[in-house]
Amino acid sequence: MRHVIVIGASLAGLAAVDGMRRSGFDGRITVVDSADSLPPDRPPLSKQVLGGTMSPESATQPMAARLDDLDIELCLGIGATSLDAASRRIALSDGSTIVADGLVIATGATPRTLPGALPGVFTLRTLEDSVAIAAELDLEPQRVVVVGAGFIGAEVAATCRSRGVEVTIVEAQDRPMQRVMPGSIGDFITTLHRDEGVDVRLGVGISSLLGSSRVAGVKLTDGTVIDADLVVAGIGVTPATGWLEGSGLELGDGVVCDETMLAAPGVVAAGDLARWPHRRYGEHLRIEQWDNAIEQGGYAGRRLVSGSAEPFAPVPWFWTDQYDCKLQLAGRVAPGDEVRVVDGSTAERRFVALFRRDAHCIGAVAVNRARHAVQMRAKLSEPLLWADALAHFGVDDR
Ligand code: NAI
Repeated sequence: MRHVIVIGASLAGLAAVDGMRRSGFDGRITVVDSADSLPPDRPPLSKQVLGGTMSPESATQPMAARLDDLDIELCLGIGATSLDAASRRIALSDGSTIVADGLVIATGATPRTLPGALPGVFTLRTLEDSVAIAAELDLEPQRVVVVGAGFIGAEVAATCRSRGVEVTIVEAQDRPMQRVMPGSIGDFITTLHRDEGVDVRLGVGISSLLGSSRVAGVKLTDGTVIDADLVVAGIGVTPATGWLEGSGLELGDGVVCDETMLAAPGVVAAGDLARWPHRRYGEHLRIEQWDNAIEQGGYAGRRLVSGSAEPFAPVPWFWTDQYDCKLQLAGRVAPGDEVRVVDGSTAERRFVALFRRDAHCIGAVAVNRARHAVQMRAKLSEPLLWADALAHFGVDDR
């Protein structure tokens, strides 16, 4: 393998380059991205950049630093428009085609949008989005409506409150953050936001956006009208696989890979769009998290140039910062898992809760308990009996 093309210069793509170089690959690497500038590191976008405590430039610095010593050809402002996976021939938006010995697909995901877009209605994915919403907040809006109480919604609401703005959250499900953190931990998040003064509306969607030249409010599916001069939608993302239609790759809510992130001979995928069978959990996963983008990207790069690898089977892990809470979750949890607080209390905003399925502990959430989060992440890399997990916290199995 002499020439590898990486499509997507964000976290997973650059982590793949890093993985290749660390494996000793000294061939040519071309990284292509349709964005005109290097994508930012995303965690600050819904927090510090939006809150005005970090400059936009600072958000791109970690990514620029990642380029040091990687020896790549970086082609920005050029998108991949199609692929023939069998020949690894890629068509680019500037009209050229390139044939790669190896290919890394890391084009990520795009945010879903509300129908009937109006000025004053935003999604938050890029640095430009974050800067534009921050500029709106500088104008001191009367009320922000945040649609969706997933990661974006919960973090944006918290940041807006830290800037003193009135916020209403509208979430279709009956609890926040249910995609990754099902069950009663959602109640903790609801209480957290209500205690901080957010008007949290659950189990209700948006029936329409109101306003003519600019958004003036939202109408909910229960008929309620909420005035708003700014709306931020965090209603999930769609894997960016449109350019791969007809490529010969299997697509199905992402790029379908094998256990080693191989999508076809000489083709790996990583990051928000990669779906793969997780050996330990016995299901296909697609993980939209910062940590996974790094781990999976690095793994996919190594796997591509070294030819073989153990299956990719990490313990999923993420964190989110909301108000004074750092909330971390390790493991793979699902609706119906039993949740038990084993340390601290939700009222103190300082606790550890374990998730139980059958005889096993399958996940842990820690709020302002970083040390426990790290320990549980390590423990969950092997099957962990419920009784042993409780014993770790000195709790009897009742
Ligand atoms: P998400 O999937 O985390 O949450 C979307 C939420 O919107 C869900 O709760 C869903 O029930 C709700 N929803 C969907 N349609 C709706 C509607 N019409 N009306 C009301 N509610 C509706 O997606 P989100 O928050 O947009 O985040 C986008 C991506 O960014 C995700 O991949 C996420 O993992 C990532 N992200 C991760 C962060 C972290 O790890 N701390 C921080 C910010 C974003």
